[in-house]
Amino acid sequence: MTNKKLLEISKSAMENSYSPYSGYKVGAALLCSDGTVTTGVNVENISYGATICAERAAFLKAISEGKRNFSKIAVAASGDEVPIPCGMCLQVMSEFAGEDFEIIAAGGKGELKTFKFSQLLPNIFNFKSVERKE
Ligand code: THU
Repeated sequence: MTNKKLLEISKSAMENSYSPYSGYKVGAALLCSDGTVTTGVNVENISYGATICAERAAFLKAISEGKRNFSKIAVAASGDEVPIPCGMCLQVMSEFAGEDFEIIAAGGKGELKTFKFSQLLPNIFNFKSVERKE
């Protein structure tokens, strides 16, 4: 799937953003390795810290549906700035993002930035003594 198409999906998803406190809508479209796309939006909460970002919403939905391998994520937002995923979203992505995982972010004025995951989070927390069970 082209970056352009994935961005269009993220922009449509953005309309479902629940953001009454910031008024800042974010939409994400996550391309899974099986070719399916999972969308996510930011879901705010009156207890602000309970807010979930669009990127994490997309990842959590996809993981919940059994997806484990991902190619790229497109992110669109209602502001002019290019919406670079926050640190908490990058940390969640780091669990599943492979070497080639790509992030495509589009600002409101048409500015586009693409990154490899490792450009945004070059050094990942790891804990080698933990034996992963899956
Ligand atoms: N937000 C996202 O959806 N993704 C990010 O990577 C950063 C921030 C949302 C959370 C909140 O609803 C709004 O943007 C303002 O911070």
